[in-house]
Amino acid sequence: MVVIRGATTLEQDEKEEIRRAVAELLEQIANRNSLKKDEIVSIVFSSTSDIHSYYPAKAAREAGFDGCSLFSAQEPDIEGGLVLCIRVMLFVEKDMKPHHVYLRGAKVLRKDLSDIINVAIDGPAGSGKSTVAKRVARDYHILYLDTGAMYRACALKALEARADLENETALMDIFRDMQLGVVYEDGVQKTMLDGRDVSEEIRRPEISTAASVVSKHPSVRMHMVEKQREIAGKNSCVLDGRDIGTVVLPDADFKFFLTATPEVRAKRRYDELVAKGHSVDFEELKREIVRRDDRDSTRAFAPLKKADDAIEVDTTGMTIDEVVAFVKSKMQERI
Ligand code: DC
Repeated sequence: MVVIRGATTLEQDEKEEIRRAVAELLEQIANRNSLKKDEIVSIVFSSTSDIHSYYPAKAAREAGFDGCSLFSAQEPDIEGGLVLCIRVMLFVEKDMKPHHVYLRGAKVLRKDLSDIINVAIDGPAGSGKSTVAKRVARDYHILYLDTGAMYRACALKALEARADLENETALMDIFRDMQLGVVYEDGVQKTMLDGRDVSEEIRRPEISTAASVVSKHPSVRMHMVEKQREIAGKNSCVLDGRDIGTVVLPDADFKFFLTATPEVRAKRRYDELVAKGHSVDFEELKREIVRRDDRDSTRAFAPLKKADDAIEVDTTGMTIDEVVAFVKSKMQERI
């Protein structure tokens, strides 16, 4: 007798979705393990306490796994645990090495069994990439790495040291000993500069411009890219930036390139800044965004550019929910 384990996650607690998820999980387990249905003695499900709409055991019966004993139980609430998750154990009468199957958001449960997933989301300022990246990371229970925040922290450091932003050597002298850290608190990225939390400060408009200038220098970029690859190599994560799909992670599992008209991008940034209490001139902000795009996409080293194999999404007329749904649907096709 062997025990095969597996798990999957749902988008919502809904009968049809539970049926689909259970059928998909059991079929994949059967395929990966070349199982015949009569070799399965028993299937035991447990689901997180946010799933009420249907019994996974009933869904299994409907999916044709009806010749064995079936049982579903509910798990206690565990703070910080996966949500909308169905786990399963199949007891199988066969002499074999089991292949456990973890699908969708549940991949993160077994990092030893499932590969690390890296998702690259690139695009110009205001294209929606950070909001989308954060949502996708949250829904798949993986990290979100805001690479722009790292260049912003460099810019803050350079401005505080009154360095010449055009002088690559002088900048590197300052950056070499800088303690730049990315830490996570309740899943939210905090950017630490020399032990100080600068997450809010680096959002100031003058830092946006300075970040775009300091990030054009190859040695500054190489220093940052090394840190980004180190984080992405150890964790499943969504990274947003300008060169993730082209330079940082050319082999990322999923690549998206978000765009939108300058008008719409400027409006998004304007609303964001106003909501945070900053007073900004819309026309000036728009000019600054266009100048920044131009600098980011015309620099010689690692410019803002769509990777050939990235999926381009024009978000101009789309809501954030629509963009997130599109990105996730493209990922689901291959997970
Ligand atoms: O995404 P953001 O607005 O926070 O980025 C600030 C600047 O940092 C952006 O104008 C260009 C630079 N940047 C970069 O060159 N490469 C990245 N991967 C991320 C940001």
